[in-house]
Amino acid sequence: MRLGPLTLASNLFLSPLAGYTNLPFRLTVRELGGVGLATTDLVNARSLLEKKAQALKLIETLPADRPLAVQLFGSVPEEMRDAAVYLESLGIASADINMGCPVRKVCRVGGGSAMMTELDRTARLVRGMVDAVKIPISAKMRLGWDDENITAPDLARALEDAGVAAVFVHGRTRQQGFSGTVNLAGIRAVVQAVKAIPVIGNGDVTTPEAAKMMLEQTGCAGVSIGRGAFYNPWIFQHTLHYLQTGELSSEPTFEERVRLMCRHLDLMIEVFGEDHGCRMFRKVAPWYAKRFGPVNEFNKRVVLVSSRAGFYEILDYYRRWRQQFLDETGELKPRFRPPPMTASFMQPPGAAPSGNIPVPKGPVEVW
Ligand SMILES: Cc1cc2nc3c(=O)[nH]c(=O)nc-3n(C[C@H](O)[C@H](O)[C@H](O)COP(=O)(O)O)c2cc1C
Repeated sequence: MRLGPLTLASNLFLSPLAGYTNLPFRLTVRELGGVGLATTDLVNARSLLEKKAQALKLIETLPADRPLAVQLFGSVPEEMRDAAVYLESLGIASADINMGCPVRKVCRVGGGSAMMTELDRTARLVRGMVDAVKIPISAKMRLGWDDENITAPDLARALEDAGVAAVFVHGRTRQQGFSGTVNLAGIRAVVQAVKAIPVIGNGDVTTPEAAKMMLEQTGCAGVSIGRGAFYNPWIFQHTLHYLQTGELSSEPTFEERVRLMCRHLDLMIEVFGEDHGCRMFRKVAPWYAKRFGPVNEFNKRVVLVSSRAGFYEILDYYRRWRQQFLDETGELKPRFRPPPMTASFMQPPGAAPSGNIPVPKGPVEVW
C-alpha cells in the first residue's frame, strides 16, 4: 500500500505504545516479517528540538528498522513543523501526529485528544508541517471525545484537506479509555468521510481473522496493531499470510516464543546496556509469558531480573517448574493452555468479555 510517496511492503502497521515500541521491540517484530511501517513511542516535539537525551533515545533507529515513522506530540505549530523538518533530515520515513492521547499531561498543552475539538487550529498546524517537508505526515486519533462528540470523520476530512497522507483511527472514544468494544462502524464513518487518503483502523486486533474483519467491515486500507503484537509478535507475518492465502498459520510453540523473548532481551541489552535493558525487560517478559501457560513462578522472578545471566537462571528454573503442566509429548495439558485470543469486536453480542487485552500498568495506564 502507499503512504503518500512511500510504498509499503504490507498494509500492517505497528502502533505506537509508549514505553514499549522502542528500537529493540521494533527490530524483534521486523525480524519476523509482515510489518509495513512501525511507529516510535510518542515524542515531545519541543524536547526533540532541544535535543533532550530522552527524546533522541526515542527516535534511535538502525537500517533494519525501516521504514520508520516517528510520532510527535505538541501544540505549537512552529515546533511541530521544525520537528518534522528535523526528522526528515535524519532520514525518517514519515511523521505521525498524536491526536488521540487522553493523558492529561498531553491534553493540558492542547495536544492529544484536545486537538480533536479544535479543528481549524489543528488543520493550520498540520498544514504548516505538510508544507515544510516532503515526507508524509499522518495523524492518529480516537473516534472522538465521547459518544456525543464523534469528531473523527470531520477531523479526518479537515486533515486530508490540510495535506495529511493517512489517518490512523483507534475505534474508541477518549471517554471509553480501553473499555468496551472497538466500534467498527465508527472507523467505517471515517473511511467514508475522506476522499482519497488511506484510513488505517486500529484497536484490539489480536488475530489475523480480526485484522481481516476490520479491513472488510470498515473498508480501511490497513490495520495498525499495538498490544496484539506484544502477545504475538508473529501477528504481522501471520496476518499477511492469511490475507494473501486464506490460510491460518500454526501458533508458535513454547520454544519459538522463548527463542524470540531471548532475542528481544539481547536487543534490549545492545540498545540500553545490560543493567537498564534488563530492568526494562521486567515489564516485557510477562507479555511473552501470557502465552506460556502457568507462569507465576516465572513472573514473580522476572520482575527482579537485572542481568542476562540472571534471566537465563530464571528461565532454567521456570522450564523445570513448568514440566508438571506438560503431557508425555511435552505439550501443555489442555486445561493449562491459554484461551484463544478474541478481539472485542468479534465476541458474540452479550458475551462476557474474554481474552481482553489488559492495558499495562505504569505511567501510561490511562491511554
Ligand atoms: C501502554 C500503551 C502505550 C501507548 N502509547 C501510545 C502512544 O505513544 N501514542 C499513541 O498514539 N497511542 C498510544 N497508545 C495507543 C495504541 O497505539 C493503540 O491505539 C491502542 O492500544 C489500541 O490498539 P491495540 O488494541 O492494538 O493496542 C498506547 C497504548 C498502550 C496500551
